[in-house]
Amino acid sequence: MQSLTLTRPDDWHLHLRDGAAMADVLPHTARQFARAIVMPNLKPPVATTAQAMAYRERILAALPAGLAFEPLMTLYLTDNTSADEIRAAKASGIVHGVKLYPAGATTNSDSGVTDLRHCAAALAAMQAVDLPLLIHGEATDAAIDVFDREAVFVERTLIPLRRDFPGLRVVFEHITTREAADYVREAAGRIGATITAHHLLYNRNSLFVTTEGRTGARPHYYCLPILKRETHRRALIAAATSGNPRFFLGTDSAPHPRGEKENACGCAGCFTAANALELYAQAFEDAGALDELEGFASFYGADFYGLPRNAQQVTLERRAWRVPEQFKFGEASVVPLAAGEELRWKLA
Ligand code: NCD
Ligand code: ZN
Repeated sequence: MQSLTLTRPDDWHLHLRDGAAMADVLPHTARQFARAIVMPNLKPPVATTAQAMAYRERILAALPAGLAFEPLMTLYLTDNTSADEIRAAKASGIVHGVKLYPAGATTNSDSGVTDLRHCAAALAAMQAVDLPLLIHGEATDAAIDVFDREAVFVERTLIPLRRDFPGLRVVFEHITTREAADYVREAAGRIGATITAHHLLYNRNSLFVTTEGRTGARPHYYCLPILKRETHRRALIAAATSGNPRFFLGTDSAPHPRGEKENACGCAGCFTAANALELYAQAFEDAGALDELEGFASFYGADFYGLPRNAQQVTLERRAWRVPEQFKFGEASVVPLAAGEELRWKLA
């Protein structure tokens, strides 16, 4: 197969940042995707509908002429989010989900939820108005091994939460383990999961160079939830290529300035927006499942969110090319995932 035409896809989990940096990364996404669920973990977080509306206006103002793109906004759930705020968010028509970051779980999550019991009124309102809860699913107890935090979250937090709010629509974001994929496949009720390209393509060995007589740590492969072992990557590939509409595309593209990644305490996040579809196509082709890419990338997420499927198309061509070493990112630069590596597919 030399070219692959798909319904234009959407990105159901994206970090766009703000200001000049946002203006630099936004065109990458808008070239690839018609819409994206925009994460609210700015500093300060996007915690109210008024803030989400203002952020949406800043994104639209930064969009280059000629690119059509619709940002789908989210609110950042805090211990203090009120039921009224949830109802206002739903009524606005521009807020499509509310993001749960367990406090301390990841980048800019210090305003996150310290205890879900504080959120009972907000969660009940979300269930009542049918506004989805988007979950960063990692336990935050420092005593738990970082590679086990997602599986522990399922048992300790996700199962009890969904028992308490059985009508709540939930997206388990950027799943990284077999346990999470199994849970999403088998659970009752309305649940979906996003899967990143990097968790489909790489396992935790990619965090380190240990071959050809060289050793080193590779900060641009560090994200949260962290890359897991190969058995988990295979479980994610099976889920993504299964045709089960609970699994859909979310890049979790999370740009950071180069210097904050190549650092003694480097930030978590992989920048994939510039070549996301190419990465996914490679992962699906390696699994012999290119025919499942369109459902995963272009249909199931829209269906889950109750939005129309896109009408336009995009075409990928089989053509070897090298991922650039860096891109402009405000005053700094951002290093993309797979920088300098050769990919097989290129968006026309
Ligand atoms: C994200 C970021 O940088 O905002 N980082 C990441 O590693 N994925 C936050 C997140 O989604 O966890
Ligand atoms: Zn994210």
